[in-house]
Amino acid sequence: MTNLLYINASPRGEVSAANQASLIFTNALTDSVKVDRLDLFEAQLPEVTLEITAAKMKFAMGLDLDDEEARQWSAITNLVSQFLEADSYLFAIPMWNFSIPYKLKQYIDLITHPGLTFTSDENGPKGLASGPATLIYSRGGDYSPKDGKPDPFDFQSPYMNAWTRLVGLNPVSEVLVQRTMAGPDALTETLDAQRSKLITLANGLG
Ligand SMILES: Cc1cc2nc3c(=O)[nH]c(=O)nc-3n(C[C@H](O)[C@H](O)[C@H](O)COP(=O)(O)O)c2cc1C
Repeated sequence: MTNLLYINASPRGEVSAANQASLIFTNALTDSVKVDRLDLFEAQLPEVTLEITAAKMKFAMGLDLDDEEARQWSAITNLVSQFLEADSYLFAIPMWNFSIPYKLKQYIDLITHPGLTFTSDENGPKGLASGPATLIYSRGGDYSPKDGKPDPFDFQSPYMNAWTRLVGLNPVSEVLVQRTMAGPDALTETLDAQRSKLITLANGLG
């Protein structure tokens, strides 16, 4: 049995294009893959407070936390444990204003700490997580690379690539679900175009 952590960054439930693509992926999984779904817009994610930022610094420097810092830091370590326990990852990520939804950024800010999800030495950062990740990007428009060059308005893919590399996820596969606002036919077309890639990626998890 392996564990897949499915992180959903769309608040739009079943109508979400990213989640419709995710459903193609999860429907193709074998019984050996257990899915743990985290809906970021429904989860009660903690705020990054004074105490959490203080705890982050103290933790990194090996200093003792006070009682309130320790209490708030335990919410962080619970989220980090859930993240590290996964063997593979599926992210459903809408494009919001050229980038990722704020709840996904909040989650990343909550779980990304030296000594917990990455470490670093003279060779640079090294991730403490591992396993393959599928990143599904849903976008109203088309931000495909043109002439081999990345679209200058696409801050979703470069950011998620940098962050997944920092925490150690590998390999990272990106699935583009685009032109989702060009009407129902365009949505069906983009989902159909990505169907076999999604199924192949899901089958690869065993
Ligand atoms: C707050 C917000 C900002 C958006 N910004 C963009 C954008 O910058 N570029 C774009 O192509 N689509 C943008 N869209 C459209 C979404 O990317 C598109 O509807 C996508 O399919 C949403 O994903 P979902 O259906 O999985 O929730 C935005 C939508 C919302 C709600």
